[in-house]
Amino acid sequence: MKTIYSAIQPSGIMTLGNYIGAVNNWRAMQADKNNDCIFALADLHTITVRQQPQAFNTNCWSFYALLLAVGLDVERSTVYLQSHVHEHSELAWLLNCYTYVGEMNRMTQFKDKSLKHADNVNMGLMDYPVLMAADILLYDTDLVPVGYDQLQHIEITRDIALRVNNIYGDIFKVPEGFIPKVGAKIMSLQDPESKMSKSDPNPNAVISCLDDPAVIMKKFKKAVTDSDTTIAYDPENKAGISNLLRILAVAENKSVEKTVEDCQGLRYGDLKVRVGEAVVEMLRPFQDEYKRLVNEKDYLLKCAKLGKEKAQAKAEKVLKRFKDAIGYISL
Ligand code: TYM
Repeated sequence: MKTIYSAIQPSGIMTLGNYIGAVNNWRAMQADKNNDCIFALADLHTITVRQQPQAFNTNCWSFYALLLAVGLDVERSTVYLQSHVHEHSELAWLLNCYTYVGEMNRMTQFKDKSLKHADNVNMGLMDYPVLMAADILLYDTDLVPVGYDQLQHIEITRDIALRVNNIYGDIFKVPEGFIPKVGAKIMSLQDPESKMSKSDPNPNAVISCLDDPAVIMKKFKKAVTDSDTTIAYDPENKAGISNLLRILAVAENKSVEKTVEDCQGLRYGDLKVRVGEAVVEMLRPFQDEYKRLVNEKDYLLKCAKLGKEKAQAKAEKVLKRFKDAIGYISL
């Protein structure tokens, strides 16, 4: 059995980038009987940026419902909220003492977010990758399926794990990042040189997984492409078209090569409509299921409790292993 671990923050909206780069793959990995999958809502990470309590609470419910709507199965997998398993915070503290300030200072996401939230560069923002390392290491994880933007955090997780293992012996399993073949970096529809990001101020740049079909179509029709007319996959010179082709490949469940072949002869405008329609179809069952689930608070709570119990049973063992190795008195 391989242990698969990943998480998503319940902040803002779930974007098409999150869907294609992450949660849709999680569902695929769950389907493999050889995988033991653990998926979390990283709600402790989210407060590194100030949240309004009521909106944050609503968003946590909404994101948990989104995870179930995507097809994550609370019986087969473990689907829980990070804040319900206190071992995450505790391990993060311990790991802090094995992590260097210089290492955290070098993290790209920390540098970006410090600029974006210059009025609130709190310790949590800097410590974010250590908490993420704690998440992953608590479950003896083999593989961490993520988009490109998280790879640096997986690298630092490996460094921390190896450092601890060098001191105390075999404490942590050293995990590997796992990037999907297509869609590890879905780009903005308005600026295809940069990542599609939930915090983009231009709503036309980002598809929310909960956008209405008409809105999805409108955003794709406005997608920035180039002044050429040929449909080719060339991320360097044709970033916009290549992004659309990647999205279409995932939505139609084909390779990028086959997608390019199928789209020969289409005008850019026709391609945009085709991508929009494919995305609407891909998201339709997911959106329907979300609408059904989101107000089923009792059911969601039952699932979250089960997730917490399953997660904690695993996490407490690994935490104890590390605390014993450090020399703490065990009761
Ligand atoms: P978050 O919430 O920013 O994003 C969740 C997942 O979505 C992927 N992603 C994308 N993939 C492709 N194209 C995009 N445009 C795009 N935007 C986002 C991200 O790579 C990620 O896989 N720190 C993490 C959450 C986290 C975590 C963990 C992940 C906390 N603990 C432990 C893995 C393991 C984050 O903020 O992801």
